[in-house]
Amino acid sequence: MLVEKNVSLQPYNTFGIMARAQNLVRVQSEADLQALAADAGLRAVPKLVLGGGSNLVFTGDVKPLVLKMEIKGLRLLPDNDAKAHLVEVGAGESWHDLVAWTVAQGLPGLENMALIPGTVGAAPVQNIGAYGVELQDRFESLDAFDLLTGQVFTLNAAQCGFGYRDSVFKHPAPQSDLKPGMGLACRAVILRVRMRLPKTWKPELDYLDLTRKRDAWLAEQREQGRLDPVPSAQQIFDWVCEIRRAKLPDPAQIGNAGSFFKNPTVTPEQCADIIARDPKIVHYHLDDGRIKLAAGWLIDACGWKGKSIGRAGVYEKQALVLVNRGQGETAVTGGEVMTLARAIQTSVYERFGIRLEPEPLVL
Ligand code: EPU
Repeated sequence: MLVEKNVSLQPYNTFGIMARAQNLVRVQSEADLQALAADAGLRAVPKLVLGGGSNLVFTGDVKPLVLKMEIKGLRLLPDNDAKAHLVEVGAGESWHDLVAWTVAQGLPGLENMALIPGTVGAAPVQNIGAYGVELQDRFESLDAFDLLTGQVFTLNAAQCGFGYRDSVFKHPAPQSDLKPGMGLACRAVILRVRMRLPKTWKPELDYLDLTRKRDAWLAEQREQGRLDPVPSAQQIFDWVCEIRRAKLPDPAQIGNAGSFFKNPTVTPEQCADIIARDPKIVHYHLDDGRIKLAAGWLIDACGWKGKSIGRAGVYEKQALVLVNRGQGETAVTGGEVMTLARAIQTSVYERFGIRLEPEPLVL
């Protein structure tokens, strides 16, 4: 196990922010973590687990020891479950590569989550989701390493405490015995994740953007004489990639961290109040009676689309995404991103009385 010093993190965060890790270890196997836990000097130091860096804003150099997750491996587990295929994946694999691989193998279920940036190990941390499907809908279990005790343990979906862009991995961990429901942030390192892909597959096309694609495709199919066509998982995968490419910036071209704020939820009374003033507000009714508002719409309505403060900008095609208008040496700083984020929060609060909560981890 090699501890690298003064490592640039610019290639390791999708915003492309310049920051340095004082110390960094590349974790390629469980044995690397065992070695870390056995090292008296390193065992106690604070640590930051880094996956694809797609949900992070660095506002300065990183003092905790950075664990860069590079554990690979992708396999279909022996078929002993009547209802689902189980796929086991190393935390360091790319999420999109996993989705593409399962679809190519004829194992549908993840196609709605194509092109989400980041690694497989980061996916459960914020319960990633897109176009009507969340990670928790296809999750079986995961194995994690406890940095305090050196033990490996397994968690099922209930034990991960999944919520909207949330899980136990986002909440502070105790420095004592772990009990169910406690936070695991900075303590547990996800090693591998098992996904559950139901053998009886049904396309999920309720999200408006996908419904539109399906309707256009159905019309085309009927013109060609096909009466009851059902789109394949590969077809849905391609649609999701098209939709995302049309409105979300590719981090390889324009630095960004995906949606910068969570979609807020309000009570029906609060929503009725806003509708009375802004009848066009985009909102969705949730099962628990609350109402989810589209944060992108709120920010757009405040006139932020395409605007910038310094080198931090609001993406032209999706106001929920903040982007790096610099590059390389002239990259945006975390401070500039947060100045823009706070200005957006203030104007949304002043106009709608709603406090937007950032989605990425700000360090
Ligand atoms: N909208 C606007 N103006 C904008 C942006 C959006 O009016 O500038 C409106 C859209 O017209 C649409 C609504 O807001 O009616 C929702 O927009 P969109 O479909 O793009 O989805 P979103 O709610 O902004 C969420 C996730 C995305 C995910 C998409 C698709 C969050 C915070 N974001 O975005 O996830 O890809 O739905 O499921 O939940 C991410 O988390 O990083 C992410 C990209």
